[in-house]
Amino acid sequence: MVDAVDSKILKLLDALSLSGYEDGYARTEFSRGAAYHHRRIEMLGVSGARALDAGCGVGNWSLALSQFFDEVHALELSETRLSIVSEISKQIVPNIKPVVGNVEKLDFPDGHFDAVFCIGVIFLVNVEQALAEFRRVLKPNGKLYVTYNAAGWWRYLMEVRGKAEPNCVTFGGDAFIDRAYRLLQSADRDAILAAPNRKKSWRAMLEGLFASRPVDLDQARLWLRDDTALGKELIRSVDVVLAAGNVKQKQELAVVLRDFRDGKALQRPSGRARLIDPSDMQMLMEQAGFSDIRTDLEGTLGRGSQDPEPIYTAAQGVCETLARRI
Ligand SMILES: C[S@@+](CC[C@H](N)C(=O)[O-])C[C@H]1O[C@@H](n2cnc3c(N)ncnc32)[C@H](O)[C@@H]1O
Repeated sequence: MVDAVDSKILKLLDALSLSGYEDGYARTEFSRGAAYHHRRIEMLGVSGARALDAGCGVGNWSLALSQFFDEVHALELSETRLSIVSEISKQIVPNIKPVVGNVEKLDFPDGHFDAVFCIGVIFLVNVEQALAEFRRVLKPNGKLYVTYNAAGWWRYLMEVRGKAEPNCVTFGGDAFIDRAYRLLQSADRDAILAAPNRKKSWRAMLEGLFASRPVDLDQARLWLRDDTALGKELIRSVDVVLAAGNVKQKQELAVVLRDFRDGKALQRPSGRARLIDPSDMQMLMEQAGFSDIRTDLEGTLGRGSQDPEPIYTAAQGVCETLARRI
């Protein structure tokens, strides 16, 4: 049955003739096959009447969810991606309802869903707002499942996947800049900054140097000390951005480092992708009104001995969290 679904999906994609990028994206997402997606949802042990697939992409998870719920609402910003979901709904599984929408502001009544799945999306949006919306649209005791990228993900995007997919370099760079901003917000200046940068006279001199031209990331790298774990991580990361990042990313990262050096309030750079450590997700979910929160590496919760290993390693750090709405 699942093999039949896979061949129907391929036929459907052939018939849609999407643009190169969107076609490639869709084929990649479906390439793990219906059986893989089905088992992953089965492992979570969640089923019921109505589910929301929040940020459903091309509907690969919606398709699996349709076997565990009477009705699956597949919500997505991109109309192009949703056009694939509409075809899946027409040709393969009628209990999927495609809907254009934004996970930060859901157009559903309170207490509407038995479960919300948000797979590979929450780090792209305002996390607090999305969690508040998921809680609102869930029934009491409803389940929330999210997957998200943690600390090592940006490096994996820039250094590994970026070799074949240039977009990944940009996403990885944005995610790192956001991470650098968050780490530096609470970091100890004296522990991170190289000695001359901690002295006022040097600061004044450098101030003059940078007043009339963009901050240079090559220079900013020299401000960092390499004898703490955070300093080492920052230097290694700056080197990756120097080697693979774009001009805007180099400038944004340099500005964050300059403001840190100068003891100024840091402005969050415009890159929106955010890396969320599992402990932060736990805290954000508790604050949003969830309990029974379980977190692991993506593809691990409920995994049996016959199931495949998680796709991403702990270093790459894609995590999953399953929780219950209070
Ligand atoms: C990495 S893809 C994941 C898609 C799918 N959930 C999966 O795992 O295959 C992220 C998707 O989230 C969508 N997205 C981004 N921001 C969104 C938002 N605010 N509301 C709804 N969808 C959003 C993007 O268009 C994209 O299709």
